[in-house]
Amino acid sequence: MNSVNKTEQYKKALSIIEHLSGADGYQLDGVGKMATVAAILKMHFPEWIFVGFYRVTGEDTLVIGPYQGAILACGTIRIGRGVCGQCALQRKTLIVPDVSQFPGYIACDDATVSEIAVPVIKADRLVAVLDVDSGLRGAFDSADQHFLEKIVHFV
Ligand code: SME
Repeated sequence: MNSVNKTEQYKKALSIIEHLSGADGYQLDGVGKMATVAAILKMHFPEWIFVGFYRVTGEDTLVIGPYQGAILACGTIRIGRGVCGQCALQRKTLIVPDVSQFPGYIACDDATVSEIAVPVIKADRLVAVLDVDSGLRGAFDSADQHFLEKIVHFV
């Protein structure tokens, strides 16, 4: 997807998410919001292999939360391990253009080539990591970071 189309898709996804979060009768808890965000993102980026959340459930553990994708995602990830675990540890967005070059990368689907992981922080507390996998090399850039960091505010 070229960068113009990508921006358009993110803007459409964001406007639906913004609309829902202000809509009467659509009050969601954290898990409901994650499920909704994952579904809306997958709808706008059907080519993604995986989009979903890993939730912080213990001091050092991430557990699979709401997600969309054809794969059976890895269930539990230690904080510090793999892309998601490092994202959680560093509390910053990680863009990995080629997962084969990432030390300690955790492979859930062999088709994944690039990945972005975005921390979800609420009141200074890390609550989850949003993870997106692509089958294309270098699929994610600063535009993805910009929009996904905006989107996780709604969770
Ligand atoms: N590759 C990730 C694991 C999660 S799956 O890609 C869905 C990682 O290294 O943290």
